[in-house]
Amino acid sequence: MRTAQPRHYLMCRPTHFDVVYSINPWMDPRKPVDTPLAIAQWESLRQTYLSLGHTVETIDPLPGLPDMVFAANGATVIDGRALVARFRDAERIAEGPAYLQWLREHGFADARTASIVNEGEGDYLLAGEWLLAGTGFRSDPRSHAEAQEFFGRPVIGLTLVDPDYYHLDTALSVLDEKTVAYYPAAFSPGSLAVLQRLFPDAIIATDADASVFGLNAASDGYNVVLPHNATHLIEALRERGFNPIGADMSELLKAGGSVKCCTLELRSAG
Ligand code: ARG
Repeated sequence: MRTAQPRHYLMCRPTHFDVVYSINPWMDPRKPVDTPLAIAQWESLRQTYLSLGHTVETIDPLPGLPDMVFAANGATVIDGRALVARFRDAERIAEGPAYLQWLREHGFADARTASIVNEGEGDYLLAGEWLLAGTGFRSDPRSHAEAQEFFGRPVIGLTLVDPDYYHLDTALSVLDEKTVAYYPAAFSPGSLAVLQRLFPDAIIATDADASVFGLNAASDGYNVVLPHNATHLIEALRERGFNPIGADMSELLKAGGSVKCCTLELRSAG
């Protein structure tokens, strides 16, 4: 029997969303972006969370920061403590201070900016007792030690090797404390062996699941919100007793983001 745990999320409305630079292979500034459609898809995701009983807070979007909608990258928040992102790319650096300020003003006094490149929940995913940590494209491997010291949680470093899956949350999804789904081809051989050792019962995503960003999902332990066209993954989740809920995030995918990227989890103390 799977049970849903109410979540506390932070989101950022894509008011200024656009693709005007390219920092991952999905982003093509020549392709038109329909910002009103992105806003509608984001709003529908927010409504889905509210209908599941989750709390959703929002941070004000800042002009000139078209990727700020991807709130997951703003920080990692565990036990009421926040390690705020230090972005790799100049285009996103100003998002860090905005998230730091929001967190400090909303009860997270213990918020601090990472001293080494660290893209928040894009690369850091809490799975039970372990903090899974991606590297290879964005977060610096040395940021793993900083995160372990800050949170006092064992950090498991995982190396990503496929530029299409440049953040850990594009290649792996935490479904509950013990269950994950992942796309094997996104990981180095050693990291894949680590995943097989830690999660022998994991759901294995197909090429098709990964290519629609099916792993970029938000789970509450029972309900799993994910891109609606990840059909194999949706079926696999259902077979394992989860309740998959499809979302259309096609506009946000033009920037290399989807459901999870738009969602930062705020985990309070205790
Ligand atoms: N355009 C953004 C970037 O490349 C997308 C970030 C997606 N966020 C995520 N959590 N994977 O930085």
